[in-house]
Amino acid sequence: MITNTEIAKIGNQYPNHIVDFKHENDKIFFTTQNGVILEITILRDSAIRLRYATEHVFEPDFSYAISDDVSLGYNSLTVKEEIPEYVITTSKIKVYVNKSNLKIQIEDMDDVILSEDELGFHWEENYDYGGNIVKMSKVCHSGESYYGMGDKASHTNLKGKRVNNWVTDSYAYGKDQEPLYKAIPFYIGLKENIAYGVFFDNSFSTYFDFANEKRNVTSFWADGGEMNYYFFYGPEMKQVVEAYTDLTGVPELPPLWALGFHQSKWSYYPEKRVKEIAATFRKLQIPCDAIYLDIDYMEGFRCFTWNNRHFPNPKKMIAELEEDGFKTVTMIDPGIKIDREYWVYQQAMDNGFFCRRADGPHFKGKVWPGECKFPDFTNPEVREWWGGLYKEMISDMGVKGVWNDMNEPAVMEVPTKTANLDVRHDYDGHPCSHRKAHNIYGMQMVRATYDGVKKYMFPLRPFVLTRAAYSGTQRYCATWTGDNVATWEHLWIANVQMQRMCMSGYSFVGSDIGGFAEQPNGELFARWMQLAIFHPFCRVHSSGDHGDQEPWSFGEEITDIVKSYIELRYQLLPYIYTLFYKYIKNGMPMIQSLVFYDQEDTQTHFRTDEFLFGEHFLVCPVQEPNAQGRRMYFPKGKWYNFWNDEVTEGGFEKWVPAELDRIPLFVKEGAMVPKYPVQQYVGEKEIEELQIDVYYKEGIENSSVYEDQQDGYDYKKGRYSLRKFRLRGKENELIIQQFKDGNFITPYEKIRMTFHGLPFKIGTIELDNEIVDFKEIKLNGDNTVEVSKDFTELHIIGK
Ligand code: NOJ
Repeated sequence: MITNTEIAKIGNQYPNHIVDFKHENDKIFFTTQNGVILEITILRDSAIRLRYATEHVFEPDFSYAISDDVSLGYNSLTVKEEIPEYVITTSKIKVYVNKSNLKIQIEDMDDVILSEDELGFHWEENYDYGGNIVKMSKVCHSGESYYGMGDKASHTNLKGKRVNNWVTDSYAYGKDQEPLYKAIPFYIGLKENIAYGVFFDNSFSTYFDFANEKRNVTSFWADGGEMNYYFFYGPEMKQVVEAYTDLTGVPELPPLWALGFHQSKWSYYPEKRVKEIAATFRKLQIPCDAIYLDIDYMEGFRCFTWNNRHFPNPKKMIAELEEDGFKTVTMIDPGIKIDREYWVYQQAMDNGFFCRRADGPHFKGKVWPGECKFPDFTNPEVREWWGGLYKEMISDMGVKGVWNDMNEPAVMEVPTKTANLDVRHDYDGHPCSHRKAHNIYGMQMVRATYDGVKKYMFPLRPFVLTRAAYSGTQRYCATWTGDNVATWEHLWIANVQMQRMCMSGYSFVGSDIGGFAEQPNGELFARWMQLAIFHPFCRVHSSGDHGDQEPWSFGEEITDIVKSYIELRYQLLPYIYTLFYKYIKNGMPMIQSLVFYDQEDTQTHFRTDEFLFGEHFLVCPVQEPNAQGRRMYFPKGKWYNFWNDEVTEGGFEKWVPAELDRIPLFVKEGAMVPKYPVQQYVGEKEIEELQIDVYYKEGIENSSVYEDQQDGYDYKKGRYSLRKFRLRGKENELIIQQFKDGNFITPYEKIRMTFHGLPFKIGTIELDNEIVDFKEIKLNGDNTVEVSKDFTELHIIGK
């Protein structure tokens, strides 16, 4: 038996000198005399993976994070032995591996050091549980900044912070609170304005210290598993985020209705109340696409059951809501009530699907229904069964979306708020304890849900929402940031969380608008809505303990403001859908912090409030009460004020007026912003015309519009329409070229263009090289024209 004093003496262990070296195709192995093996895999010229084994043995190579569709392949790779190091060179980076201590250094081709081991890899035997506590420390250079890391409620730049990834039910969390609901162990470093990324793919509890403990050291470590990380070279942040997103995957396109406005509360019941809510939306003509049923629709909180007193005929209710344009989304939790009469419980018992403690008994924990058992979603057989449970709900009842909550898993009345660490998991054939499976448990639950919902929704697309997530969960579902609070600080938090999540590969994200806990006043609710219509997932949800939180709950003035913003969201649906398309096509985050937009401008490195919504909108929420405006920073470029077309030159901070009905909102010059008419729900109207707002620029700017059937899978067979526009503005003319891709025929025939900021009066218009009579195509004054949708070149010449 080893004593504590002996453990303390052993402490950290380090690799010593290299005694063996091997190069096999895309892998290079270095073995040290004391049994450490470093395996470097070249994924791409700019992406490598580094794995360390101790005692000469690697763990089985298995990860839930990595996508099946990852792109691999590099142009060049050489490995040279020099004194005192090995040098691995691709066309983008050089990796030096020190022969005497296995420390590494990564440089770009201009010899800029991007990653330099401080102590490098080291480890400590974990005498409590077995295995190693694996650690990595890197030199942090002055001026280096850090971004990413999922849902952290902290300043977008993480320099000076220490964070922990251990998915946790964090009711009413505060700023800087750790850990939160998600574990996304990925960060973007910015050194000398060159971006690189690190993804530490380890599902144990992980920690990242960004020069918090020591000013010049950044380190990360895990309670178990392997030191297994990926390094991505930029040099642009965009390339780093794209590479990480390529590695961990993207979702399929959601049905367009999922990008509309959603209304939720804990809980809408009985049926009469649900219908009242729906009817009020339609009466007030406030657009809405989905209504959520929280746990109270169930019978005694038993998943996959209905409370017949509150919902005597759910199928009929759901169908009636649907007729009125509302999709019904229901909640499903992981905890299954211990009840011998309950079929879900029986099936799981009969098949041995529940998690067990180390010594054999089932793991039990209290959640809403009282004592529950928890399916082991890390077992593929359990996932298959779980997916099948959705058959009745989707195929028969007509539910259109599912919301998985409490899947950390959250457990009540225990200090750890979750499962015991000795709980056993299959981990897809790599049996382990909850220490390793905790961070991926919710992810595997929602993966099973997604597979089931997708199967039964076919030929339509599924919509699934999760609270807990690990890297890669974005492949299956949308997510929200959990139980926030109705405070101004939380409005700030929601803003940074969305930016951070999007830059961490997870774009389909939103907050509980107005706050989940406590009650916002009208002003806070309106300000939050103004921000949240620019978040990819847009849903009001609240605990319902403190009053109502519907768009009309705060008096007429607020109702009008909120309505106008939801309407704007619906107008912008083609823009938002196009952003989603770009996200899944290129890994482009739908929201970008200013530093992502222009990393060369050091002013952006510490900005938290302003962000880009796609390439063309600059948004800056008002985050305090009684404001009539605010100061904000304009990044490079020229920006049209969305409300009055006034142009502001970037590179400066400026006061922007913003009375309660205005959010500071700007459009990049040269942008062509597509819009649909306001609809009460997606599909209410046939789109008869595509509106495009064209913002004049002297110079060139590209825009695009992606469209398809708004649901279903035909888009995968080429039935989509991608219009790419190239705008070129000169002193006295404007040329717009259109390049079309895909074979979906859009329902409208005409595109109506409204020009903003034209510095001249329109004299002549040529359409595909023929002069057209301006009078014939002009509408509403001199700055709007209507042209056939399939033009290839529109040439506008000033008088
Ligand atoms: C916790 C979730 O975060 C919240 O959104 C939900 O309303 C409650 N659980 C009740 O289901």
